[in-house]
Amino acid sequence: MAVQKPQSEGASLNNFWMPFTANRQYKAMPRLLVKAEGMYYTDVEGNSVLDSTAGLWCCNAGHSRPEITDAVSRQISQLDYAPTFQMGHPLPFELAERLAAMAPGELNRVFFTNSGSESGDTALKIALAYQRARGHANRTMFIGRELGYHGTGFGGISVGGMVNNRKAFNSQLLPSVAHLPHTLDIERNAFSKGLPEHGIEKADYLEHMIAQHGAENIAAVMVEPMSGSGGVVLPPVAI
Ligand SMILES: Cc1ncc(COP(=O)(O)O)c(C=O)c1O
Repeated sequence: MAVQKPQSEGASLNNFWMPFTANRQYKAMPRLLVKAEGMYYTDVEGNSVLDSTAGLWCCNAGHSRPEITDAVSRQISQLDYAPTFQMGHPLPFELAERLAAMAPGELNRVFFTNSGSESGDTALKIALAYQRARGHANRTMFIGRELGYHGTGFGGISVGGMVNNRKAFNSQLLPSVAHLPHTLDIERNAFSKGLPEHGIEKADYLEHMIAQHGAENIAAVMVEPMSGSGGVVLPPVAI
């Protein structure tokens, strides 16, 4: 099958500054993907490439599914954008209602963002504003986890625990953050079948940290239920 060449082929690779990429090395030997269907990409040479991370976890339903492209196309042609400052349109309300019905317990308010980084920083801001609004303005500390990844905003980098992501910004990170130990326990959990057996006790360290820093000072605890960017580490079986 003939592969459509990217429109930009032949364009300079200099101007696009690629994130989390060794730019000089990549641009000396670029790998360009031009098409996707199901769980495969097609590269510029026409090779099929298995997308083993589901588009960095953004395309879990599969690439270019007709029902998704049809729905997106239908919506764009009907209403491509409407503000949600003081105005509104029905779909965010409908989606929020559906999400609230899926979420556990009293998690029934939805605030939409455009990326994981924005979500992380927004969640931290909501936690601070919430504590302040209920009269606990001294609850400003955040607890994160070593190797945690919450994106590239200042808040997410501060609460996250990926050392290389923090290095250049260390002097300006959030001032009051402590980190739980990471949950990788390779000695005991290597070659586990299904969820690993060991490690539930690592969650108990939170109690120690709360005792150490004082619950009255802590605004929020932020951890990934399943570690991703710091290494895909499954949580242990709950006991
Ligand atoms: C838990 C978590 N928070 C934040 C992010 C950052 O998301 P984005 O790249 O959309 O800013 C990620 C991305 O992998 C993530 O896994």
